[in-house]
Amino acid sequence: MTTEKLTITVLGAGNIGGTLGRKWIAAGHQVTFGVNDPQGKHAQALRTEFGDRVTIGSVAEVLANNADVVVMALPGATMDSTITTFAAQLDGRTIIDTANRMGGGPMNSFATFQEKTPRSHVYRAFNSLGWENYADPLFNGEPADLFYCGPNDASRTAVEQLIAAVGLRPIYLGGVEQVGLVDAIAGLWFALALGQHKGRHLAFKVLSR
Ligand SMILES: NC(=O)c1ccc[n+]([C@@H]2O[C@H](COP(=O)([O-])OP(=O)(O)OC[C@H]3O[C@@H](n4cnc5c(N)ncnc54)[C@H](OP(=O)(O)O)[C@@H]3O)[C@@H](O)[C@H]2O)c1
Repeated sequence: MTTEKLTITVLGAGNIGGTLGRKWIAAGHQVTFGVNDPQGKHAQALRTEFGDRVTIGSVAEVLANNADVVVMALPGATMDSTITTFAAQLDGRTIIDTANRMGGGPMNSFATFQEKTPRSHVYRAFNSLGWENYADPLFNGEPADLFYCGPNDASRTAVEQLIAAVGLRPIYLGGVEQVGLVDAIAGLWFALALGQHKGRHLAFKVLSR
């Protein structure tokens, strides 16, 4: 696998965006965060931690920098409006959709990406486990698996690299048609971690021989 240093724009700097972004900074990638309030608590925490090693701004500001990968770590309810408003900046880009839309209908935003940004390369990843498992992906010293899907083209290398940089083992499930399967794994996590009260430090592993 390549170890190329990537430029990454992370939209959202909360549990998911902040956790993933910190891992990628530690791995030597160049991370820029786009947030709702650049003076808010998430932005301030990152500035305190990293100083001028990170750039933090509004979504409009940070999407202007044309990073290698854009990671959507926003509340599900804001996804449609964000994709629609910034369709021109997002189209043609490599995008990772981590956001879960709750309350009925698909949890992913692939239909909106398809409609508004038809030339983008959209992956579904990091949506199926609680953020604690991205902060600490090791279970008895073994990395948890992360299931993901998206186009099997040149952009996939960067996505695999970013999953591995978090400390997870990437498990590719196929193209965009597998997005429902990736979302079903999120459903499995909710059922076990929350529904069956097994706790949020819970992840999955594929066994094979
Ligand atoms: N939490 C988990 O364990 C988990 C696991 C898997 C997937 N997810 C999904 O990941 C997404 C993010 O969850 P989270 O727990 O990280 O949420 P969070 O901690 O509440 O953080 C949300 C981030 O999004 C930013 N934001 C909110 N509305 C925005 C807007 N309209 N434009 C730009 N930025 C906006 C916030 O900006 P400010 O910093 O200015 O407030 C904040 O940085 C959700 O879709 C969630 O379903 C979460």
